[in-house]
Amino acid sequence: MMRAARITGIGSYLPSRVLCNAELERMVDTSDEWITTRTGIRERRLAEEGQATSDLAVVAVERALVDAGLGPADIDLLVVGTSSPDMILPATACLVQARLGMSCPAFDVNAACSGFPYALQVATSAIEAGRASRVVVVGADALTRHIDFADRATCVLFGDGAGAVVVEAAEEPGVLGIVLGADGRGADMLRIAAGGSAAPATPERLAAGEQYLTMNGNEVFRFAVKVIPAATREALEASGCSVEDLAWLVPHQANQRILNTVGERLGIDPERVFSHVHRTGNTSAASIPLALDDLYTSGRLAPGDLVALVGFGAGLTWGAAVVRWTKARTTKEM
Ligand code: UT7
Repeated sequence: MMRAARITGIGSYLPSRVLCNAELERMVDTSDEWITTRTGIRERRLAEEGQATSDLAVVAVERALVDAGLGPADIDLLVVGTSSPDMILPATACLVQARLGMSCPAFDVNAACSGFPYALQVATSAIEAGRASRVVVVGADALTRHIDFADRATCVLFGDGAGAVVVEAAEEPGVLGIVLGADGRGADMLRIAAGGSAAPATPERLAAGEQYLTMNGNEVFRFAVKVIPAATREALEASGCSVEDLAWLVPHQANQRILNTVGERLGIDPERVFSHVHRTGNTSAASIPLALDDLYTSGRLAPGDLVALVGFGAGLTWGAAVVRWTKARTTKEM
């Protein structure tokens, strides 16, 4: 009989440094009114000076392990979804593994903002195939390190953070179905051009600002509102469920207007489309586990609830996972 996988622990971390819209008004030609009406974002958190993606991830993993009642030695695979690794190599997962005193295999998955569903697919597949029993899946990004704070088109959108879940082998499936997708023809729509093998970060490129994230916002918006409903429906179908069965839709927190449009297109009550984008901004791969932990921590997730986790991002990539939540409510601090 094939083994099943379910989430048995969750934890997250948001840096304490808050960047609010009023502060951005003093940095670039923007306004709180523009940012709020176009994106819904009121504030975002920035990694502190000297705080790297692995530092954010370590706290999230520690919290997820406590929540699962497990220790670092119990874990047999660590997968970190990130597109802002501490450095090109080694993998951020290896830095997290060493910091926590783990001894399991560890590697990164780069699917940009879709990193969490991609990493969850790796974990679920490993468990179902009997190659692992307890896997930690992390979504962590400090993308603001790659943001030009003189570019109003991007600097108002992003924030930093990390979220992690423990996935364990189980008799009853908790992770019911996952669908992933990619369309590399859209690679130019959202990218960080310099710093890789195609365009090493030479002084000239750095002076030209090529190390910063650039985006065709309108095209990415159009892509998001098309792909999220389609991927959600596909994952629900693969799980033998329908939109009506969902307690929560937890989409990648990129823009409130995207969340509203997606909710309308799927015919979901807006109350069931989770959003806390007003206080996090777009935290890339951290976005979905941060949102899920907020739901859990605030006691709004009950055992038996069906939840769809849906991401989209650079690549272009997308991914949707349908999860039957099995943990009892908690009031733990976030
Ligand atoms: O993880 C995936 C990451 N990406 C996304 O999810 C992004 C998806 N896209 C979006 O969220 C939206 O497209 C944005 C929020 C990025 C932009 O909103 P928009 O409603 O599509 O605005 P726009 O790009 O069409 O720009 C409208 C106007 C432009 O001025 P003109 O040409 O009409 O005079 C922009 O120059 O707004 C201007 N603008 C700004 N004004 C004040 C662009 N950024 C700003 C700003 N403050 N920060």
